[in-house]
Amino acid sequence: MTTDALFAQKISRIRQAGLYRQMKVCHSPQGARVKAGDREVLMLSSNSYLGLCTDDRLKEAARKAVEMYGTGAGGSRLISGTSPIHRELEAQVAFFKQTGAALIFSSGYMANAGVISSVADKNWVIYSDRLNHASIIDGCRLSGARTVVYGHGDVNDLENKIRRYPSKQGLIVTDALFSVDGDLAPLPALVATARRHGLLLMVDEAHATGVLGKNGGGAAELFGIKDGIDISTGTFSKALASEGGFVAGSAALIDYLVNTARSFIFSTAMPPAGAAVSLAALDIVRTEPQRRSTLMEHAAWLRDSLGRAGFDVANHPTQIVSLILGEPRTATAFSDRLMARGIFVTAIRPPTVPAGTSRLRISLMATHTRGDLEFAVSEITAVGRELGVIGREK
Ligand SMILES: Cc1ncc(COP(=O)(O)O)c(C=O)c1O
Repeated sequence: MTTDALFAQKISRIRQAGLYRQMKVCHSPQGARVKAGDREVLMLSSNSYLGLCTDDRLKEAARKAVEMYGTGAGGSRLISGTSPIHRELEAQVAFFKQTGAALIFSSGYMANAGVISSVADKNWVIYSDRLNHASIIDGCRLSGARTVVYGHGDVNDLENKIRRYPSKQGLIVTDALFSVDGDLAPLPALVATARRHGLLLMVDEAHATGVLGKNGGGAAELFGIKDGIDISTGTFSKALASEGGFVAGSAALIDYLVNTARSFIFSTAMPPAGAAVSLAALDIVRTEPQRRSTLMEHAAWLRDSLGRAGFDVANHPTQIVSLILGEPRTATAFSDRLMARGIFVTAIRPPTVPAGTSRLRISLMATHTRGDLEFAVSEITAVGRELGVIGREK
């Protein structure tokens, strides 16, 4: 069989299952409205939750950093790629997360994969939420530790699994804000469980950083349990409108990661301009809390309106609104019809979500207007009726 024939056959199976993926191209910056081809459409699939991807202050920070440090970092962090701006960002992240130290990686994926595979080894047991992000799952695999998956957000199941699969050294790991359902991990209960059993607790704040908590510190800040978290990871690529990932924790942990985390050691440092943008974004997170309150008001309004239109919308206090539609083809058809009506929202299908739960994942931005949301509700309702997802009379 030729290489082409081999992969064409594999792709045709993916197509038959309704799971074929294609990139949609945005021809403009990632704002509340974007250009898709030559049309302007409402963006409901961006993780730039605070609307900072188009912020002039961030652009200026990038320009200045390029002038000062050039474009690429030129090397990995331990060889030649560390500039003062990388160190400054690490100090600011530690300050922001109120930990002893922090370390930045080239992506959030690399942070999770690098941290878990470095902290745990084959003598450890990792207890991992069933719906954790792929980067956590891959970190668990890379570590060689025994990974025990517990029911999503289910602390009773976790307790049972800890008793059934005890460990001398163990780690509980969870997303803080689950990115496709938009729900929060039961962090206070997880802290209590970790303490009771002498386990480490690692929380990925990728979607919560900058968004949740009074100061945007994330879900741990929202719940008031920062001290109970041993390892906090996150990304600059979502609310912070930049790129790169981070881990925040004790100084000894960070020192250990510098010496052992392979995705940190064997990869070129993020470009200095990326670090500069992240620093500028952290500043805005600190000084413009109204972005967070507007975002949450938008989410509450949209949930309520879609619920009243007849959709089954879970009531989570976050910026992500998930419309579960079931079969992948329904989700794709919904997304295509919305695009035709001027709304960009991508269908999320297996393996990103469990079979039978394909959906539209709507993510809101602080820079959406109420008018944008009213438009979204009317078009989503119209398509929901066309596809028979909601009753015609509603
Ligand atoms: C929960 C979670 N963790 C980690 C990541 C990875 O972050 P990054 O995009 O910076 O690699 C993502 C998103 O992509 C995510 O959703």
